[in-house]
Amino acid sequence: MLTNENVTIPSLKDLTDDNITENTIIVNNQTSDPRLKYIFNRLVTHLHDFARETRLSTDEWMSAIMFLTQCGQICSSTRQEFILLSDVLGLSCLVDVMNHPKPPNATNGTVLGPFHTQDAHEFKIGDSICSSGKGETCLVRCTVRDTSGIPIEGVSVDIWETDDTGHYDTQYDDRTGPDCRGILKSNKNGKIWFKAIRPVPYPIPHDGPVGKLLDKLGRHPYRPSHMHFMFHKPGYDALVTSLYLKGDPYETTDAVFGVKSSLICELQKVSNSNITSEYGVDIDDWLLDYDFVLVSDQEAKKLKIQNAEKALNNLGLNPIMVNGLPVASLD
Ligand code: BEZ
Ligand code: FE
Repeated sequence: MLTNENVTIPSLKDLTDDNITENTIIVNNQTSDPRLKYIFNRLVTHLHDFARETRLSTDEWMSAIMFLTQCGQICSSTRQEFILLSDVLGLSCLVDVMNHPKPPNATNGTVLGPFHTQDAHEFKIGDSICSSGKGETCLVRCTVRDTSGIPIEGVSVDIWETDDTGHYDTQYDDRTGPDCRGILKSNKNGKIWFKAIRPVPYPIPHDGPVGKLLDKLGRHPYRPSHMHFMFHKPGYDALVTSLYLKGDPYETTDAVFGVKSSLICELQKVSNSNITSEYGVDIDDWLLDYDFVLVSDQEAKKLKIQNAEKALNNLGLNPIMVNGLPVASLD
């Protein structure tokens, strides 16, 4: 036996399939970080039980290792295969819902995806975030409010979408700067409006290991037409979301599980000259109106704790607090 200040470590010799889990957990318990200790306890338990349950073969285990290796090898500053993997496994969606809970009247969040960039330019209200020739013009008019309906001024709204061929600017080798993306600040009435293009459906990058996996699982790689939005203002929980177009062929089979009914919008057409003169668009351009509702940091924190307690109760587990969040007791 070895003893360090946190834990007594048993002799790690002659381990079997019956005691390897317990011993791996004990040896990991040397960390003094309670959350890390908890996470690795659960990770090792579930990972080992997965192998036991499935009677994981050596070949299957090696294929998984090779798959993860290929995911790593294809990653670059503009290609994030592990986010894609998390997205197609539904994990991104689950983590977002748990971490950014919403009361019933707030705007739902959805997957961030791998195409947000840090280099979007700031635009003035009314500008176009897309260079000319990128697709069919769409005027977007939004209001940002809090959960009591009060407009919020000064919210930073980051928007990004593909061009009309279904590619983000970062997917072009000759990219010279951001396009079809931009940041606007809401005015004193909580409003922003800008010109963009009508979103189109597109496949997530599927020329790599995640694409091959989808194929093996009999799944298509398409996402329904959408426009991404990210909202930031101190005091409010960050909202990462997207608006989806009603009637899209992939509305119910999104490859990354991101569609929520409350985020589906019906595009209108600009049909009167008040709008053309006020916003500088043409008759028959597309028009998208949507009101977003942000949750305050305090509301989000309270809901996160309530939801965690409810979820653990539903699983029949006893909650204990670790780093301010209820998690399942290990006893
Ligand atoms: C996107 O909508 O940009 C996206 C989301 C998940 C995976 C790939 C792309
Ligand atoms: Fe997208």
